Amino acid sequence: MISMHQTRDGERRVLQPFTMVIFGASGDLTERKLIPALYHLTAGGHLPVEFSVIGVARRKWDDAYMRAKMREAVAKALGPEGIDERVWDDFARRLYYVPGDATDPSTFSRLDQAIADIAASTSPEVGRNRLYYLATLPSLYPKLIEGLGELEAARSDRGWGRIIVEKPFGHDLESAIQLNRLLARYFDESQVYRIDHYLGKETVQNIFVFRFANGIFEPIWNRNYIDNVQITVSETLGVGHRGAYYEEAGALRDMVQNHLLQLLALVAMEPPASFTADAVRNEKVKVLGSIPLPDVEAVTKNSVRGQYTAGVVGGEPVPGYLQEANVSPDSTTETYVALRLGIDNWRWAGVPFFIQTGKRMATRCSRITIYFKRAPHLPFQRFAVPDLKPNSLVLNIQPEQGVTLSIGAKVPGPQVRIRNVDMTFEYESTFKERSPDAYEHLLLEAIAGDATMYTRADEVEAAWKIVTAIRNAWDEGAVPLHPYPAGSMGPEAKRWLLGRGRVWNGG
Ligand code: BG6
Repeated sequence: MISMHQTRDGERRVLQPFTMVIFGASGDLTERKLIPALYHLTAGGHLPVEFSVIGVARRKWDDAYMRAKMREAVAKALGPEGIDERVWDDFARRLYYVPGDATDPSTFSRLDQAIADIAASTSPEVGRNRLYYLATLPSLYPKLIEGLGELEAARSDRGWGRIIVEKPFGHDLESAIQLNRLLARYFDESQVYRIDHYLGKETVQNIFVFRFANGIFEPIWNRNYIDNVQITVSETLGVGHRGAYYEEAGALRDMVQNHLLQLLALVAMEPPASFTADAVRNEKVKVLGSIPLPDVEAVTKNSVRGQYTAGVVGGEPVPGYLQEANVSPDSTTETYVALRLGIDNWRWAGVPFFIQTGKRMATRCSRITIYFKRAPHLPFQRFAVPDLKPNSLVLNIQPEQGVTLSIGAKVPGPQVRIRNVDMTFEYESTFKERSPDAYEHLLLEAIAGDATMYTRADEVEAAWKIVTAIRNAWDEGAVPLHPYPAGSMGPEAKRWLLGRGRVWNGG
């Protein structure tokens, strides 16, 4: 049976047998996301007949142990649905493990040998086509890129080699540029897949479809009709065991540089001429490049930062950020950030984009709201419209998934009274199909060689430029750090950012 994959622009590609190598195989991401995604892809019959997955990490595991560990991981990810034994058997026999350290050059030759051995017992193409996934600590990326780059350069077969780089991609503009340069030394840009898992979410992918498959929204998708756009990504989780990483990152680097700016780019970009990787990414780069880089004064006026203190989330008492493991007791790392950004182009001039994200907030919610301008004149008595809100369009990303249009409607009765009502489309009740996890989409696309939903070098740099400008101003002490209790929706100070008459879409 031949496996086919249809790319976004409609091209049907035959999926060739391949080997995927995961560096960081004993880590959290591999267990929670990568292996369950591969299991689901196997179950759905989306992968070629021959493929293998090799885990690499420092621990002294072997193939059998890797299979046992990954079985636990898949069982946990599937929950009550449970493992399908037939699928598992088919999948597990393709799992291998190579112990190795990124800093030891022999790791790469042993890996190469392992791939050759697997190819000898399966199909030569399993050895020829390779997808390398960097899911280790980012400090190991340079060594891995060098080692893999040399391994790729030494190959004489005509297969493909691709490298997926997990976030964080650098910690500021300069380090992102360095990382891009290093990748470019060994790989062509078309081989590099920088992952942002938000781009794999079904509802995020629907932003494209919503905007560009419907004729009715595009004419009003601009400064003439839109008052402001709000993007909220709130989480109830704290930093958990990731304190050491988070201390260096903070909400701005951890969430804004990638996920929130990607959401903004999808909402604000011009329609691409086609759904090819470069056509889409050109437009995203253009829109990110149209966000003016703020100076210290602009950052002071247009950003709010916060840090959670002890509180109650979902009925459970939780510690404050400063009490989390591996967090310095006098840390000034932000766990919440709100920004007001502008986009200097014809479509958006003068329209503020408000974004906020935080940990340990009252609710888990990712949502984009487009607030339209009010009707120019209301031919009703004042008492008929005491609290009529402007029209809004909500793109719900998670946990609710769907689209809601809020409009004014007449309340039944003898008098004219007007109230806001919602027209809602919900994924769950509309579609019977299961929504694949973001990693399923993205892995399959990398296997098929479709980079549309991966970020390009200039795109990550454009995002880092904005974030680094904000970060630098913060480092000058320009913006105070507001405490907010865990279980709230962030610091009160976020409210003044919006200006009069507006409320945050996530509360
Ligand atoms: C990750 C961040 O990229 O995204 C985490 O590092 C965050 O801090 C996570 O919790 C949120 O992803 P999701 O898919 O749960 O919204």
